[in-house]
Amino acid sequence: MLVSATQMLNKAVEGKYAVGQFNINNLEWTKAILSTAQENNSPVILGVSEGAGKYMTGFKTVAAMVKAMIEEMNITVPVALHLDHGTYEGCLKCIDAGFSSVMFDGSHYPIEENIQKTKELVELCHKKGISIEAEVGSIGGEEDGVVGAGEIADPNECKMIADLGVDFLAAGIGNIHGKYPENWKGLDFDALGKTKELIGNLPLVLHGGTGIPADMIKTAISLGVAKINVNTECQLYFQEATRKYIEEGKDLVGKGFDPRKLLAPGTEAIKVNVKEKMELFGSVNKA
Ligand code: 13P
Repeated sequence: MLVSATQMLNKAVEGKYAVGQFNINNLEWTKAILSTAQENNSPVILGVSEGAGKYMTGFKTVAAMVKAMIEEMNITVPVALHLDHGTYEGCLKCIDAGFSSVMFDGSHYPIEENIQKTKELVELCHKKGISIEAEVGSIGGEEDGVVGAGEIADPNECKMIADLGVDFLAAGIGNIHGKYPENWKGLDFDALGKTKELIGNLPLVLHGGTGIPADMIKTAISLGVAKINVNTECQLYFQEATRKYIEEGKDLVGKGFDPRKLLAPGTEAIKVNVKEKMELFGSVNKA
């Protein structure tokens, strides 16, 4: 069932668990994540970056594929199709293409501009029943081989953006995309607590879910995080299983070259990763 992410995340705040956003790249990824959500009776958010949207030939293709898969696979758990780190224009395209949720990432704009653009998009989304995530404090990560530290969002700026009527908010607390460097200082729970105090029950989003230790995930959830984004980890699971298949020479045996066989171990590995995360986040049987 394709739904906006608002209700599932409000329920998660109340129940003190988090819903996973797993980013998709293609049919195999989408199929693996949807079937794992159904098997575990868990709500789920499919994340689509602008790059992944382009890779799949456009947001319309993605929306059509996801809607058709939900129907053909009899997926009855709540599924949100969400633009990840969208530009203003990207959000407009996804609203038009049939996404049920978008993230406007205005974190790199001065706060006044972030506020203005977020405000406009909140109105457009809510007219159509689409949920919207905003971001304060940019999330670091690897770019051209350099790992940037994650910013700590100013709790007062978080409150300003929250007051615009966004449905959930990503606040940087030292989290970064991709693998965490050896000298990573961990999440800033002090900043998270202060933000939570100011914004009340608005669901908070934790980006960069790959490689955050389980105890930090649990603490973050106890402080109001209700959506956790995971991308790189599924890619690493897929890569490892695919590498093993080739290294064991299985592609050379019989019809082992058939893409449906070649991509099967990686697809199964994504399912394992998604299930582990759903268990850790506490979303199993919360559909
Ligand atoms: P990772 O790739 O670090 O899991 O981060 C995912 C993410 O935050 C997508 O927005």
